[in-house]
Amino acid sequence: MSKKSIIVTGGAGFIGSNFVPYMVEKYPDYKIINLDVMTYAANLDNVKEASDKDNYLFVKGDICDRALIDNLMQEHDVRGVVHFAAESHVDNSITGPEAFVKTNVMGTFTLIDAARKYWMDAPFEYKKGYEDCRFHHVSTDEVYGTLGETGLFEETTPYAPNSPYSASKASSDFIVRAYCNHK
Ligand SMILES: NC(=O)c1ccc[n+]([C@@H]2O[C@H](COP(=O)([O-])OP(=O)(O)OC[C@H]3O[C@@H](n4cnc5c(N)ncnc54)[C@H](O)[C@@H]3O)[C@@H](O)[C@H]2O)c1
Repeated sequence: MSKKSIIVTGGAGFIGSNFVPYMVEKYPDYKIINLDVMTYAANLDNVKEASDKDNYLFVKGDICDRALIDNLMQEHDVRGVVHFAAESHVDNSITGPEAFVKTNVMGTFTLIDAARKYWMDAPFEYKKGYEDCRFHHVSTDEVYGTLGETGLFEETTPYAPNSPYSASKASSDFIVRAYCNHK
């Protein structure tokens, strides 16, 4: 049986580089494709225990590159996306916000739109055999604003992003939301 393929974006970053070796080890029947453009935040040393496994593939590339994403979807018949890739450091978003909008907003849009087109014929209408495909988008608590010494956020807390980073993550959440079926 051929392995099902999953794209993990940002798999060389802080969180993704823990997730990738875990998935590669735990799910040998899945091919884990680590798609990462290798910004300053990336370090492939942190995924080296996965690098010689036959269910692991590293692809250096940008999530904003539509042709690349379409190609990966088709070539590997991708059935899932776990989307960690982001510009993620708040301080950098104040000195250079453009990269945040590009990667976090346009990159998320590019990925989910490519997945939608590859898995579905029309809104809410999966292609036969693609009903189980899933897109997991990773957000941040900062979309809800800033907490003081006490308090907590809930999923129903109104969005109130306070930095270009959290505004770009909130934007990406809304894009992903728009591709979901809300009854
Ligand atoms: N670290 C935290 O405390 C935290 C908290 C809440 C949410 N998050 C979210 O979790 C996710 C992962 O966070 P992290 O701390 O691992 O981030 P990180 O900055 O350590 O890693 C991000 C990874 O994404 C890659 N990347 C950046 N732009 C890319 C692009 N255009 N195309 C492909 N790859 C690209 C980078 O090279 C890097 O490897 C992010 O979406 C972040 O917003 C993180």
